Amino acid sequence: MSIETRIPAGADLRAEIDRLRKDRNAVILAHYYQKPEIQDLADFVGDSLELSRKAAATDADVIAFCGVKFMADTAKILSPEKIVVLPDMNAGCSLEDACPPEKFKAFREAHPDHIALTYINCSTEVKALSDVIVTSSSAETILAKIPPEQKIIFGPDRHLGGWLNRKFGRDMLLWPGVCIVHEAFSETELMKLMAQHPGAPVAAHPECPPHIIDHADYVGSTSGILNYAKAMDGDTLIVATEPHIIHQMEKALPNKTFIGAPGADGNCNCNICPYMALNTMEKLYVALRDLQPRIEIEEGLRLRAKKSLDAMLEMASGTVGKGDLGAKVTGD
Ligand code: 13P
Ligand code: SF4
Repeated sequence: MSIETRIPAGADLRAEIDRLRKDRNAVILAHYYQKPEIQDLADFVGDSLELSRKAAATDADVIAFCGVKFMADTAKILSPEKIVVLPDMNAGCSLEDACPPEKFKAFREAHPDHIALTYINCSTEVKALSDVIVTSSSAETILAKIPPEQKIIFGPDRHLGGWLNRKFGRDMLLWPGVCIVHEAFSETELMKLMAQHPGAPVAAHPECPPHIIDHADYVGSTSGILNYAKAMDGDTLIVATEPHIIHQMEKALPNKTFIGAPGADGNCNCNICPYMALNTMEKLYVALRDLQPRIEIEEGLRLRAKKSLDAMLEMASGTVGKGDLGAKVTGD
């Protein structure tokens, strides 16, 4: 029986989710790439750094995490006493898949004089093998605190790592993972769009490949892109990241126009994250009702992974999720 068939016919899902949220003393955290209806009912919508901080600080008994599994795992690592549910346990991430822990361990062992600076988009096991975790909001702040002579392994996103190397003159060894969503943007189609909207700036997430980044006026995290949209002078922005973030832009800035950068055929849905899209209102309702599917992490592993996340939270203090990478304007 599929999850949806266990929902009472005619149920007002929004009202039921609100009732369960209260009954369970639950907080609903959502990433910017979630469907608009989920963003709209969440207690908090944010980027990976902001969501980690919220998960660590909440006094709720239950965290319903509307995002992908590595994000819900992070919430459980930071708040082990809480019940953490993820509406769909199959909501993974291509970057996590690209970095199997045993291969990462072997890579580390082959480079004993390097520290591992690791993107948060990875498994709990890979976090446990890492020294410091970064998000796209906090990477620049954290990298600036690591002496230039220190050798670094950066994984699993080679585009974020390559961007950091180019921007800050570093020589980090890169793990060869990519985000399938950001990889799908087409430079040819982007250039056509830029020609149709002369003067409109391009904002890109650092998970994009260099041929997209090279056209960007601004490069930063999801919250950084949102803040850029608020601060920019013009009225049209081309957005090279997962298009569900445009929902927040349109809510905050109804008089501005936001255009999602295209994929290869100019008009595909290939830039919608298929993992994020697995979460639905129905599955969120069932997760709150049944407190399943639940994140469970073995305690020894959790404590090892927590070290690298704690290092991030400490080293990123002062970073406010503005996407410090390459900012050309200051957000609010
Ligand atoms: P942010 O931390 O910028 O929200 O990025 C998360 C992510 O998975 C982007 O693909
Ligand atoms: Fe992973 Fe890419 Fe989806 Fe982000 S957009 S969760 S990096 S697959």
